[in-house]
Amino acid sequence: MTRKLFVTTALPYANAAFHIGHMMEYIQADIWVRFQRMQRDNGAAREVHFVGADDTHGTPIMIAAEKEGITPQEFVAKIAAGRAQYLDGFHIAFDNWYSTDSPENVELSQGIYRKLRDAGLIQTKTVDRFFDPVKGMFLADRNIKGECPKCGAKDQYGDNCEVCGAAYQPTDLVNPFSVFTNATPVLKPSEQYFFKLSDKRCYEFLRDWLNTPGRLQPEMVNKVSEWLGEAGEKLADWDISRDAPYFGIPIPDAPGKYFYVWLDAPVGYLASLKNYFSKKGLDYDAFLRDSNTEQIHFIGKDIVSFHLLFWPAMLKFADHPTIDRMRVAVHGHLTVNNEKMSKSRGTGISPLRYLNLGMNPEWLRYYIAFKLNSKVEDLDFTGEDFVARVNSDLIGKYVNIASRCAGFIAKKFDGKLAASLSDNAQAWIKRALVTAEGVERQANIAANFEAREFGKALREIMEIADITNQYVDENKPWILAKDESKVAELHDVCTTALILFRQLTLLLSPVLPGVAANVAKFLNDEQLVWTDTDVASGVVSSAMLGRTIGAYAHLMTRVDAKMIEDLFDAPSSQPAAAPAVKAEKPAKAKTAPAVAVTETGIEVMAPEITVDDFFKVDLRIAKIVNCEHVEGSDKLLRLTLDAGEGRHRNVFSGIKSMYQPEDLIGKLTVLVANLAPRKMKFGVSEGMVMAASAADEKANPGIYILNPWPGAEPGMRIR
Ligand code: 2FM
Ligand code: ZN
Repeated sequence: MTRKLFVTTALPYANAAFHIGHMMEYIQADIWVRFQRMQRDNGAAREVHFVGADDTHGTPIMIAAEKEGITPQEFVAKIAAGRAQYLDGFHIAFDNWYSTDSPENVELSQGIYRKLRDAGLIQTKTVDRFFDPVKGMFLADRNIKGECPKCGAKDQYGDNCEVCGAAYQPTDLVNPFSVFTNATPVLKPSEQYFFKLSDKRCYEFLRDWLNTPGRLQPEMVNKVSEWLGEAGEKLADWDISRDAPYFGIPIPDAPGKYFYVWLDAPVGYLASLKNYFSKKGLDYDAFLRDSNTEQIHFIGKDIVSFHLLFWPAMLKFADHPTIDRMRVAVHGHLTVNNEKMSKSRGTGISPLRYLNLGMNPEWLRYYIAFKLNSKVEDLDFTGEDFVARVNSDLIGKYVNIASRCAGFIAKKFDGKLAASLSDNAQAWIKRALVTAEGVERQANIAANFEAREFGKALREIMEIADITNQYVDENKPWILAKDESKVAELHDVCTTALILFRQLTLLLSPVLPGVAANVAKFLNDEQLVWTDTDVASGVVSSAMLGRTIGAYAHLMTRVDAKMIEDLFDAPSSQPAAAPAVKAEKPAKAKTAPAVAVTETGIEVMAPEITVDDFFKVDLRIAKIVNCEHVEGSDKLLRLTLDAGEGRHRNVFSGIKSMYQPEDLIGKLTVLVANLAPRKMKFGVSEGMVMAASAADEKANPGIYILNPWPGAEPGMRIR
């Protein structure tokens, strides 16, 4: 059986440029899709279709177009034209980007509606709707705000609460007001069309559908089950109609009435797929009917009610063929420093500014992936953590392997890898790629990618990188290269390291597609094939042995921590209404370094001292026996040091931006051992570890801990 996947992300409203939250969702889905595209089922490539579209209908877009004096279609086209720079910029490879304002969507939405009507699930009722007496029009749900009827949160829209996720009618809001005029809306009778979600059939279907194992995250099953009630008594009919003037799809046989935007928005998933299939000459109906086809929607936790109540119920009773093979993957929101992003507080991140600053999109892909799991948890971005994670993993662990070994292959072996490997090298390959329990790590990694446990997958990939670096550290190609009698050994070591580097690249390629393409070029691989890995029979290495590789060009630079400062919106004293396309922040004026610098840019030398002065400072080699984060501090790490005194010292050091605690444990460093103990907010610091930093800490905020050459031991004095 060949799996066939139809994958979507939530369709963004076509009233604004993408924000960083969109990028997080698209990156997550794109990684999953790229992983799937690399898989084979019984030798056949998995079929994956990944589509998106702009969500174009509804009052906000109609009003925004009116303000600009253009038609809604022109307005939407303008927004759509700006999408590619983000999608291409972050390597997000949708097969198709379409629009809900399309003939396919009209046909499909109206078709679904007719089927629901035929099934007896559409009902008209005359209801009181909010009307803005100042503007003289019925108000759409998102044009009314007020307090959430469920949790009391203020400033919530008329359709659902962004705080507790509840869905309701605008008339349920407490203290409602019109977003256009601030006027208190008045109620006016109007005939409306309802989807009868309260029908027993809907409850019975949803109960079973939600509880099908593997369909949803357990926390989502629990949450949505609560919305059903014990026997469906909490399910209310859903008003799917809006009165003209409205930018939307006309309801058949109902003059002056349009589908509420949330009815036709998810149908846009199907419209985009249909449009794509017709461009490709593929059979849309046959694909959906195929029992191997799975439908997967990636969405944020704020739009769960639409995707887990209305959408499946609509599809079910419109006889949509994949309804029993549909899954929804819900993610949390992106926060900055553990708070909701806020333009006014200066914690908003513009994806376009990120790219314009020259920041590598794959840094963000890696960081997001590293922090993602399959739960509905918020994902926190902090600048220091971002810099440390990317620099430590991607540069320090991954790229470092190739940059330490590839040059020797070019210089000493005319670019040709060794034709065979020593037993020792083969043992190291096995040690890197197979766990102590005998499981090929790639299988674990694949299972974690499949389950959207990207953080777990990347942690295991970094374990392979750690073992590879340990191998390089132990064999020291830079020393072997100095000794002509060790040339075969040098060849063996560098070939082995590059075989493992290629394997790491393969495993990282769903996350780092750009880097992977460059590595494939450099290693003369047409393509990196996931299923070509077989450690036991040596397939991993035989693909590379004797191969001539290209010249190594640096694959990725470190993140410069200074970029992070420029990344955030400047804090503003009062929040401004977001423009349709955000203006980019101008570059910051450079500030002078805090210390005096010489012409060459280094800190001015301190006044001369005598050797006796120097010896007043007792510098010792110390082993970092433990290292951990300090709760409440964004700068410090707590180090437990052994300086050979038969006791441990507690030392705080402001190096958190550069190092992960686990990277330091077991390493040697230099301790100022006779510094008077200092009482700090987090405890007493018994000495200071030595670290280097630039004169202009703003321009180069890096801080680099000293690390003695091998042979030094805890307690040795530095003189
Ligand atoms: O919340 C939103 O941004 C909606 N435009 C998402 C729609 S998802 C799907 F239903 F189209
Ligand atoms: Zn609420």
